[in-house]
Amino acid sequence: MSTEETCIEFDNVLAGYKDFMILNNLSFKAKRGKITLLLGPNGAGKSTVLKTLFGLLKVRHGRVLLDGQDITGASPKDLLVRHGIAFVPQGRNLFGQLTAYENLELGGITLGMKTTHERIPEVLELFPRVKERMHSAAASLSGGEQKQLEVGRALLLRPRVLLIDEPSIGLSPIVVQDVFRLLRKLADQGTTVLMVEQNVKSALKMADEAIALESGRLVLHKAASELLADPDIERLFLGGAHAAAPAATV
Ligand SMILES: Nc1ncnc2c1ncn2[C@@H]1O[C@H](COP(=O)(O)OP(=O)(O)O)[C@@H](O)[C@H]1O
Ligand SMILES: [Mg+2]
Repeated sequence: MSTEETCIEFDNVLAGYKDFMILNNLSFKAKRGKITLLLGPNGAGKSTVLKTLFGLLKVRHGRVLLDGQDITGASPKDLLVRHGIAFVPQGRNLFGQLTAYENLELGGITLGMKTTHERIPEVLELFPRVKERMHSAAASLSGGEQKQLEVGRALLLRPRVLLIDEPSIGLSPIVVQDVFRLLRKLADQGTTVLMVEQNVKSALKMADEAIALESGRLVLHKAASELLADPDIERLFLGGAHAAAPAATV
């Protein structure tokens, strides 16, 4: 892989919570304009990778690079505003009592109101159902609409990189497909997507690459299509939370 294509790079990263390290000298690269899936059993450290990349956890050793630039130790605010990294965490992250529109306004707080108001209509075009309900309280939207609104709020900043943690949780299969299709479209337009997802088979169908972690270590990095065609995929990833961990291939 040429360095031109590399967008995100973890170089021997050691990171975790207080004195408890979760990522153990983790190294991987994710390509620009591609969707990279982060797979692995519960507790493997997938969410920890996203939190570390977004500056929420301290890197104790090693480096994090974005388009070749060292961003180790940068604050979430700088990563968002200066470097264009947006993070959509797992679960519900909206202000439920505020309207969908107001949630978008808050998402644009660093842009200033003029730019925010110019961009909101563009974002709403991507989500017709959210647009119809833009004056309703966010909490009254369906789970799928809320997740779309969260993605829309992140897109207001026109991020270069979108980090998204288990977006399909609680969504119907049809809505999951809508979310995945949108992510595909964003990637095709140049956004780099790093996604944690338990819905392994459908996610692999829309992703470009797959990385698997086990106990904070990289155990696999393959093209998504190659992994999808692997007869061992059922055993590796589809047996539920207690399935055997993937065999080391790197
Ligand atoms: N806030 C936290 N404080 C301490 N340990 C945590 C915290 N969050 C997660 N962990 C631990 O870090 C490990 C990896 O968690 P996580 O990255 O959330 O896994 P995954 O997303 O792959 O399921 C787990 O052992 C988990 O218990
Ligand atoms: Mg997680």
